[in-house]
Amino acid sequence: MARNAGKRTSTKLVFLLSCAGLLGAALIADFLWASSSSHSHAYASIASNWVLEKSGTVVVPNKEKAEAVKSKNNSVDARILSGTFADLPGPELKWEKMAPAPVPRLDGSAVQIKNLLYVFAGYGTIDYVHSHVDIYNFSDNKWVGKLDMPKEMAHSHLGMVTDGRYVYVVSGQYGPQCRGPTSRTFVLDTETKQWQRMPPLPVPRYAPATQLWKGRLHVMGGSKEDRHEPALDHWSIAVEDGKALEKEWRTEIPIPRGGPHRACIVADDRLMVIGGQEGDFMPKPGSPIFKCSRRHEVVYSDVYMLDDEMKWKTLPPMPKPNSHIEFAWILVNNSILISGGTTEKNPITKKMILVGEVLRFDLNTMKWSVYGRMPYRIKTTLAGFWDGWLYFTSGQRDRGPENPQPRKVVGEMWRTKIHL
Ligand SMILES: *[C@@H]1O[C@H](CO)[C@@H](O)[C@H](O)[C@H]1NC(C)=O
Ligand SMILES: *[C@@H]1O[C@H](CO)[C@@H](O)[C@H](O)[C@H]1NC(C)=O
Ligand SMILES: *[C@@H]1O[C@H](CO)[C@@H](O)[C@H](O)[C@H]1NC(C)=O
Repeated sequence: MARNAGKRTSTKLVFLLSCAGLLGAALIADFLWASSSSHSHAYASIASNWVLEKSGTVVVPNKEKAEAVKSKNNSVDARILSGTFADLPGPELKWEKMAPAPVPRLDGSAVQIKNLLYVFAGYGTIDYVHSHVDIYNFSDNKWVGKLDMPKEMAHSHLGMVTDGRYVYVVSGQYGPQCRGPTSRTFVLDTETKQWQRMPPLPVPRYAPATQLWKGRLHVMGGSKEDRHEPALDHWSIAVEDGKALEKEWRTEIPIPRGGPHRACIVADDRLMVIGGQEGDFMPKPGSPIFKCSRRHEVVYSDVYMLDDEMKWKTLPPMPKPNSHIEFAWILVNNSILISGGTTEKNPITKKMILVGEVLRFDLNTMKWSVYGRMPYRIKTTLAGFWDGWLYFTSGQRDRGPENPQPRKVVGEMWRTKIHL
């Protein structure tokens, strides 16, 4: 196992020509944070076919009557689309609620080392980020410790991977809201609990895909410094026992499609990058607090693989587009399980839609399936596996069974017994 190193939709750009020119005008939607004062958030509908609602308003998706939407060919496409249309059918799983994390987290990160899940950083609210690590013990199912992070380390959108002792922490966003990124890179020795610096990434990235592969720390994709533009760059640096063996990062073959929030996994000595998105929230121009404003995003289902040939190959796509899954996966018995995420927005209402399935990619058959349903839809989960149990904690969950939009940031921990 890699993370636990003991282990297009050609989303029709529904931007009509009339809005395309307004793309630059920030569509100020709130981050869909229930915990922040949603009613104070300004928002602007930039064109009449953008149906947006203020966060906090309860919608009953089944009553979302057909919106007449002009399709590209200019005919009127009247559709009735349930808010839950993106859910995939799948077996119900028996979930057990465990002790919640000391703090709620969105966009946190995690690694598993043996029976311990180290849960790092993340937003507590849109205006507050964590600068510590919480530790969960799968053997006695308790939160057993806390570590501080270096002051200079980013607080969300980190690239992260472990070799089973050392945790490499790459770049990410420094501060709350939609603040800028840092290229600073660190390594934590989980035995001595000491942090060291590593050579910084050549340029900062938000949520880059990060893995250890063939003795090198690989970092690829993510968003560029503006938080929005997908990056294709791929770098690596030789590492051993928590130390960089080289002074500089080496340029590697770029990834075919860029963007943040992807699962990155090594299995059978092959490097895989799964799902993700192009585009992300950006700071509102001129905002002193770098207030997040929503921009166009495309979530995708692409799966790419690098093997000994060092050429990217395309693998079967996910059952649906999925993003915000960088720490949501486990690798068990040659299957990858991914818990939750975000899928493409509702094509009519443009609202965000969370994922409530555990998706399985069987590496023996190279086939995707729905392993089962989660207790609710949720993104940026932090997943682990121990003694036959799949665990997940943290993230931003939905508004209820009928409403897949993001709302509350949680620290809940859940587990279910799995058989693969
Ligand atoms: C035009 O749009 C309608 C409604 O979406 C669709 O049924 C039809 O196939 C489209 N025609 C073309 C040529 O794309
Ligand atoms: C985890 O729990 C096991 C079983 O109670 C215990 O032996 C071990 O010391 C614990 N580890 C930590 C770091 O608390
Ligand atoms: C993994 O495979 C082994 C051997 O077949 C089996 O004993 C074990 O229960 C499997 N683990 C899970 C979680 O399915």
